[in-house]
Amino acid sequence: MIRRITFVVLALGAFACTARYVREVSLAPIEASAARIERGRYLVDHVAACGACHTSRPEGDMLLPPRHDGYLAGGNWMQDGKLGVWMPNLTADVETGLGAWSDDEIVRAIRDGVGRDGSFLLPVMPWGSYRHLSDEDVRSIVAYLRTVPAAKPATPRRENDVPFMMNLALSLGAGREDPVEKVPEPDRADPVAWGAYLAEVGGCNGCHARGRMGVRDRDDEYLGGATAPARLAGAFLRSR
Ligand code: HEC
Ligand code: HEC
Repeated sequence: MIRRITFVVLALGAFACTARYVREVSLAPIEASAARIERGRYLVDHVAACGACHTSRPEGDMLLPPRHDGYLAGGNWMQDGKLGVWMPNLTADVETGLGAWSDDEIVRAIRDGVGRDGSFLLPVMPWGSYRHLSDEDVRSIVAYLRTVPAAKPATPRRENDVPFMMNLALSLGAGREDPVEKVPEPDRADPVAWGAYLAEVGGCNGCHARGRMGVRDRDDEYLGGATAPARLAGAFLRSR
């Protein structure tokens, strides 16, 4: 009986938390101008470096150079201790990619870290940085992603391996922020504001501070360097 009550309380808690951090999506399409597509290409390929994770590597091995035929097609596997994570396909493939998603569902995944079905994405997906993307820039990213030809990942889909306690904490909303509403354009005439914006959406803090991988940054340690090594498939990096 007690067990059942605990379960119900946990389930209600998970529902209440999820509801707070997940917004409704609109079905309205994002207008794709040539300027938006060009800006989106630049952000995806350079500043936000989506392909660092989402472009297919041989055998899905994150440490190998990208495959020429796997641009943003996913299928990589990242193993960090007990956490094993699959990199999804961002191309227009309907079955395995974003082909069936609405534009706003993609915006919500990028800035809020929420999947199509309303579940939370793992913070390996750096939405903690991307939540600072301006409305215009995130729309440009989506407009560009829609031009990427459909492709399927070359490796078979694997389910994420998430340690039980981490899964529970994340599903209860640990480290979540309120959904992103409106983000204005930074002032390009002010080099400091513009640079701060690029550093934010470029995710520098993700490695250069003892943050919690994409989840809420600690303001007192912003760009303060990390003493803990960042582990990637057995390789040890140290960011100063
Ligand atoms: C550091 C690695 C990394 C980078 C960089 C990254 N992502 Fe992701 N992304 C992930 C992972 C891992 C997931 C899956 C998370 C999960 O399963 O909970 C994901 C999920 C997604 C999803 C949801 C897809 C689905 O099928 O559920 C979208 C959309 C997405 N990312 C878009 C982007 C875009 C656009 C960029 C660049 C602006 C980007 N990602 C950069 C790792 C990354
Ligand atoms: C994926 C992790 C990662 C990200 C993201 C990242 N860096 Fe780094 N950065 C490193 C590591 C690791 C080193 C140290 C490399 C070495 O020692 O060879 C480094 C070195 C540097 C250095 C040289 C510092 C020194 O003391 O030699 C600068 C400057 C720098 N990064 C700036 C940036 C900026 C600006 C951004 C964001 C636009 C950024 N980094 C994003 C991991 C990262």
